[in-house]
Amino acid sequence: MSSRSDTKFLLGESDMPPAWYNILADLPEPMSPPLHPGTGQPAGPDDLAPLFPMELILQEVSTDRYIDIPQEVQEVYKLWRPTPLYRAHRLEKLLDTPAKIFYKYEGTSPAGSHKPNTAVAQAYYNKMAGINRLTTETGAGQWGSALAMSAAFFDLEVKVFMVRVSYEQKPYRRALMEAWGATCIPSPSNETEAGRRILQQEPDSRGSLGIAISEAVEEAVTRDDTHYALGSVLNHVMLHQTVIGQEAQKQFELADTYPDVIFGCVGGGSNFGGLVLPLVKDRIAGKDLRIVAVEPTACPTLTRGSFVYDFGDTAQTTPLMKMHTLGHTFMPAGIHAGGLRYHGMSPIVSHLYEHNLIDAIALPQTAIFEGAIQFARSEGIVPAPESAHAVRAAIDEALRCKEAGEEKTILFGLSGHGNFDMAAYQEYFAGNLIDHEHPQDDIDRALAQLPAMGD
Ligand SMILES: Cc1ncc(COP(=O)(O)O)c(C=O)c1O
Repeated sequence: MSSRSDTKFLLGESDMPPAWYNILADLPEPMSPPLHPGTGQPAGPDDLAPLFPMELILQEVSTDRYIDIPQEVQEVYKLWRPTPLYRAHRLEKLLDTPAKIFYKYEGTSPAGSHKPNTAVAQAYYNKMAGINRLTTETGAGQWGSALAMSAAFFDLEVKVFMVRVSYEQKPYRRALMEAWGATCIPSPSNETEAGRRILQQEPDSRGSLGIAISEAVEEAVTRDDTHYALGSVLNHVMLHQTVIGQEAQKQFELADTYPDVIFGCVGGGSNFGGLVLPLVKDRIAGKDLRIVAVEPTACPTLTRGSFVYDFGDTAQTTPLMKMHTLGHTFMPAGIHAGGLRYHGMSPIVSHLYEHNLIDAIALPQTAIFEGAIQFARSEGIVPAPESAHAVRAAIDEALRCKEAGEEKTILFGLSGHGNFDMAAYQEYFAGNLIDHEHPQDDIDRALAQLPAMGD
């Protein structure tokens, strides 16, 4: 029997969810459809077919509440799932807070984060559709690693366009991708039209996720043998990540409690969505629960962006999505949380934010690293800089509880470990990190370049 004072809440393999949870079945209002950029009409399956296998396209638009997880995917998940839910007793003690802090840790996957939850599914559905080669982008390197590993399991070739600033900061992420058999090149590159155009304008470009997506999409649409895989943002990615929140619900039953407030970091929104969507269902059903997305001040998509139709990439090749965006030309500062440097946001997460079902806050990077170090020295795990946004927000909430004498139950998503991010920690220790807050002009300039039909 578990009790609330345990440190780990563990499930067995037989407790793994047999299906992904689809929030589209329970939204109070339907979402706006993606649009074809040429016609302005809703994009149909045929528009997406050069990029994705039909099973994933159908999942993108499905309103079925549950979608079965194929047996082959479940077998791979069993290598590290279910993941642990921890009670952060030692952090609580350090902060001297009456709050109870729990975290769901996704860094136990071989690639080190939540990203394999969708990478395995995407590799599987592509293989079933007869595709043998995938392209993708990666920011932090976590997604590229996850897809490289998953592709190795299903015998697919993978080419990863890695945002140049991350490629330089994290050489061992590249080696990890190569260990799993993938090819990894820095983006912008000379291998695509989109990359060459950017390099012509700005030879020293640090790159961005928006640019890397353009390169990976271009290669997929120009080669018949190749599909594209996206590590966040899209509905089917959010869907695959819901194994996180479904497990957490069971683990909270074991702990005989339920969170009052949940924090997750957001880049494109997938670890946050994966953790919170099954609980948003409870929130829609009337449960008193605060759910907070945490983003960097250097890329404040939810807190300072607009909710409009925009491209998912810099070269304007993707369908238009109604989402929170800073504009597809926005160039976020080169912070160490590379996975959070994305101009847009998952349309599902954006929709929930518009309907006040979730909140959002933005935090600067020195405070993030300070919180990460407190966490590492009390709980042991060195968080990925992305995940450290959720850590910091949970610490701040626990300190507020201390002031107010409140015994809240806090849950946060620890989406990955930072064992490949030690260069960032070295920079922090050397006092070299700068807090970036973009002037309103930067954002206004990028928003002025939104596609004409955006409203
Ligand atoms: C560890 C980790 N957490 C979070 C993210 C942000 O992505 P998302 O918002 O899709 O979870 C990334 C992206 O690379 C990541 O590597």
